[in-house]
Amino acid sequence: MDGPSPGRREVARPAACVVGVGSALPERVLTNLQLMEMVDTSDDWIVSRTGIRERRIAAEGEFTSHLAERAARQALDNAGLTPADIDLIVLATATPDNTFPSTAVAVQERLGMKTGAAFDVAAVCSGFVYALTTANALIATGTARRALVIGAETFSRILDWSDRTTCVLFGDGAGAVVLEANGATNGSASGTPRGIIASSLRSDGAHRDKLFVDGGPSSTRSVGHLRMRGQEVFRFAIGATVDVVEDVMAKAGITAQDIDWFVPHQANKRIIDASARKLGIDEKKVVLTVERHGNTSAASIPLALSQASADGRIKKGDLVLLEAMGGGFTWGAVLVRW
Ligand code: UT7
Repeated sequence: MDGPSPGRREVARPAACVVGVGSALPERVLTNLQLMEMVDTSDDWIVSRTGIRERRIAAEGEFTSHLAERAARQALDNAGLTPADIDLIVLATATPDNTFPSTAVAVQERLGMKTGAAFDVAAVCSGFVYALTTANALIATGTARRALVIGAETFSRILDWSDRTTCVLFGDGAGAVVLEANGATNGSASGTPRGIIASSLRSDGAHRDKLFVDGGPSSTRSVGHLRMRGQEVFRFAIGATVDVVEDVMAKAGITAQDIDWFVPHQANKRIIDASARKLGIDEKKVVLTVERHGNTSAASIPLALSQASADGRIKKGDLVLLEAMGGGFTWGAVLVRW
């Protein structure tokens, strides 16, 4: 019999719904074989330890804001909207064009938006789930009606290209969604409300020296390079994932079997596989892009969403679970009825 499982909690009607999605990748592909000419590594090591085969690298003069703008325009097209329909941009990045102003205002200006508000969110690889939760909350309080939520990065600019333990892992890219206040039109015909159902955000600054950039305007007056104690991050990631995913599932009164698509942050295939196994999510329901994109930090989830929605896997009404963990440490999950 259809209907809620015993013990399920009634969840309030979602405040906001995803109505468009888009993405952008730089043209240049950097393969593992090309990396072998730069540092002492092998295709076999990278593939077996991470699942990554290639990543994209931004061209000279191609900034985070350029990738963000392209992803935003595609998301707007996908939603059948124009920049004039948007009154909020929340952009997650750890690689902004400048220390200030925010990359979000650069995107706002290029889109020709004269109204609304735009700001950046800094939560590194968890940035997109933080940004989505923030935009959803601003819509829920009536502060905004339609938001562009963007994850955009050019990590190639902060990598130490002589450090094989980090430079093989990351890539550049951007993804975006349009989030709209739920009106009469956004509830699905079947009566199941569409939109953001539950979020869970966490951080613990005690781990901030395990994945960080060794520079900054206030400390060194420089940009710095990414540094990571990979094994310690790896060990933390799986437990953190389970922690926030169980929290959103409890808030929504669902189980892992109810999830149609699991779209995790794409850092490492081994972390994703182990997390899915631990959560009891079928591997056929996991969206994977790490092989072609590498780790694009805040961009990885919206890039994966864009791919899986463009190829027809994620469809209206599907229950989609987003999850990420990264520098800070920060971690979080969002459950969306697509
Ligand atoms: O997005 C934010 C979250 N970030 C992550 O989730 C990343 C989490 N960490 C990881 O994904 C993994 O720890 C890595 C992929 C970074 C590393 O994998 P690992 O299995 O933990 O390897 P390891 O660090 O224990 O290194 C094993 C060996 C070492 O050699 P020795 O000491 O055993 O001789 C490394 O020096 O692999 C060596 N190594 C490499 N060899 C070839 C490290 N990097 C490379 C490389 N190519 N690129």
